[in-house]
Formats: sequence, C-alpha cells, structure tokens
Amino acid sequence: MKQDGPDHAFEVELRRSGRTLTVPPGRSILHTVRDAGVEVLYSCAEGTCGTCETDIVEDTADHRDSVLTAEERASGETLMICVSRCRGPRLVLDM
Ligand code: FES
Repeated sequence: MKQDGPDHAFEVELRRSGRTLTVPPGRSILHTVRDAGVEVLYSCAEGTCGTCETDIVEDTADHRDSVLTAEERASGETLMICVSRCRGPRLVLDM
C-alpha cells in the first residue's frame, strides 16, 4: 500500500549491530542495509510476503506493505523494511 508524497531521507539505527545508516529518497531500508554488508532475509522486496519483517525499537514507521493489519500497524512493533519508511528523521530497528 503506497502512500502519496515524496520520500525523504532518514537515518536508520541498527541497534544490535551499533550502526547508523542514511536511507536516501528512492532507496529502501532493505537495500541500504544490504549495501552496508548487513545480511537480512527477504524474498519479494515488494511488501507482500512478510519475510523481511523487522522489530521497531523506536519511532514511527511509514507503512507501505500489504502484509500488516491496521491493528499491527497501529501497534508500531514491526515493519517491512523492503518498502516501508520512517515518518520522522530517524528510525531505530532491532537488527
Ligand atoms: S521481502 Fe517480502 S515483504 Fe519485504
């Protein structure tokens, strides 16, 4: 489920690996993390399979997948890093 509006760059902190990366507009969290050499599981890369589901430690996701229910989105516990982004300037993930 895509949302309207241009993407903005944001930082993603990988809490367990102690790294912080910048996700540019038009680039996914998944690809940014993989480019940095961090191994993550994924399959569809389109927000439909649920393979890349990642726990959120802090901040609010901009959900763009078609996997999570409205209740799951509202809980703010996980996001699909292949398509979803961040509503603010920084997102902290459990990876
Ligand atoms: S890889 Fe399929 S939902 Fe992200």
